[in-house]
Amino acid sequence: MENNYPNLKIIENPIVNQSLCTMRNKNTDTEGVRLAARKLTRILLYEATKNLPQKDIEIETPIAKFVTKTLNPDINIIISPILRAGLIFTDEAVDILPQATIRHIGMYRDEKTLKPVWYYNKVPMPVDIPGNYYVYITDPMLATGNSLLEAIRLYSQKGIPEKNICCVCMISSPQGIEAIFKEFPNITLIVAAVDLKLNEHGYIVPGMGDAGDRIYNTL
Ligand code: URA
Repeated sequence: MENNYPNLKIIENPIVNQSLCTMRNKNTDTEGVRLAARKLTRILLYEATKNLPQKDIEIETPIAKFVTKTLNPDINIIISPILRAGLIFTDEAVDILPQATIRHIGMYRDEKTLKPVWYYNKVPMPVDIPGNYYVYITDPMLATGNSLLEAIRLYSQKGIPEKNICCVCMISSPQGIEAIFKEFPNITLIVAAVDLKLNEHGYIVPGMGDAGDRIYNTL
C-alpha cells in the first residue's frame, strides 16, 4: 500500500508475513494462532520502542571504562492493552519493558452500532510531568478505529504529548487508519498489514476473523 501518513509504520519482513499468514489461515488452531501472534508482538514492540529516549552513562566492562547509551530510566512507560485481544501483547511487553505499568482498558464493540462500550478503565492516574510518559496502546485489529480513538483520548486528555503515544496493531483497515490520524496526526501507529476494507459487520477483509475468539479459543 502507498503510505501517505508520516507517522504510520508498516512493518514488513518475512517473519512478520509468516506470522500473519499463520494467524489469518482459518485452519490454524488456537495454539498456532497464539504462537504466531506472540512472535509478531515481539517484532512490533521492538519497532514501537524505537521512540524511547536514551541517556549516556559511564560503565566499566571487564576491559575498560566507557560511555554508552541506555534507556533513560527517568521516564514512565505505560502499556495499555485493549481487552481482550490486546492482552496478547502484554507478555512480550513486560519481558522487554519490565519497568512498565500495565493499564488495562476494557471495551467491547456493540455489534449493531460498532461503537465501543466501556466496562473497565485502569487509566485514571495522576500525571505529574506529561512529557515524561510514553504510552503503548495495543490492539491486534484496527478496524473502525473507534476503540483505539477512545483509548488515545484518555491519554491525550491528561496532556501526554501525541508524539509519546504509540498504537501497536497487527492488521488494520484503511478506514481505521484514516480515523486515527484525522484526530491525532502526531501519534505513531505501528501495523503489520493494511487490509482492503471493512465488511458490513465491521470486520476487516480479509483480516483474521475475531482476533479475541481465535486467540482465546472462544469461537
Ligand atoms: N475485531 C476483530 O477481532 N476482527 C476484526 O476483523 C475487526 C475487529
